[in-house]
Amino acid sequence: MDPSSSTLAELYHENSKQRRYDRGFGWRVAAVGNSPAFQRLTRRPGKRYGGAREIALPRPEPLDARLHEAIAARRSARRFSEESLTLPEVASLLLMSAGLPDEPGGSGRTTFRAAPSAGGLHPTEIYLVVRAVDGLAPGVYHYRANDHVLETLLLDPAASRRLADASSYPEKLESAAVTLVLTAVFGRTVLKYGERAYRFVVLEIGHVAQNVLLVAAALGCGAIPIGGFVDDEVHAILDVDGVDEASFYLLPVGRVGPGDPPEWREGQDAVAAVMARLWAAGPGPSGEDAATPG
Ligand SMILES: Cc1cc2nc3c(=O)[nH]c(=O)nc-3n(C[C@H](O)[C@H](O)[C@H](O)COP(=O)(O)O)c2cc1C
Repeated sequence: MDPSSSTLAELYHENSKQRRYDRGFGWRVAAVGNSPAFQRLTRRPGKRYGGAREIALPRPEPLDARLHEAIAARRSARRFSEESLTLPEVASLLLMSAGLPDEPGGSGRTTFRAAPSAGGLHPTEIYLVVRAVDGLAPGVYHYRANDHVLETLLLDPAASRRLADASSYPEKLESAAVTLVLTAVFGRTVLKYGERAYRFVVLEIGHVAQNVLLVAAALGCGAIPIGGFVDDEVHAILDVDGVDEASFYLLPVGRVGPGDPPEWREGQDAVAAVMARLWAAGPGPSGEDAATPG
């Protein structure tokens, strides 16, 4: 492979492949994973903000919806009503997506969480940017999954507006009752899995995000996964460095509103018209004229 002609994605993927005769990877995983010091260090992974005001979350009632119904009902919500969410709803969203739903008195496995994680290292962190949740002042919170509590990071009614502005879709975020921001702390997974860790981190964020979307559907709420945002503006709102810990997803959640705003639909129509013109005029993806019947 000529490295100069490769995309960054190809280079990364090639360099993080597990190969049958590459003993180094297996030895690393075994040596690190079996180390008592590593096991002690990673028994209950997760950030803790010392000194932050803590808000205990209720243990939510079991969700009513069947899995079939939640999957069938999930749709990306494009617009939300102005209504607030309740604290038990937010507790459900968090516990059933990334928390320890089996505790207390469950399996006894202290790291058993709602989403799987390579090596049980759980690099994902969840922050909440609250606009309208009963019992929570607007601002920024961190979900400490191990204890099912929120840690108050910043009380600021403007935080949700700032987050909306940091996204490529302010009109979608601005009316959400709460936006969950999923980040990853890379070091937790890199220590054991080296270059392969980045793959695992991204996969794991997806597991947690899908749980959020299905729980939102089960609660009768709307949600949408947003990957388009100005990374470092989001990091500034969360006060994370964007290097050791970085954001991957914004997940606005709220009661479902009256549908796409007309200006958004008009924007989509305008983009579609431009694409159609370009498509008709230029060469197609295979290098042939797209207008040539194929
Ligand atoms: C990785 C990922 C990133 C996405 N980012 C955005 C986004 O930035 N803005 C947006 O409007 N929708 C975003 N979406 C939502 C998709 O547009 C949506 O899932 C798609 O249109 C299919 O519709 P559905 O979710 O209702 O099935 C994203 C979805 C995924 C999986």
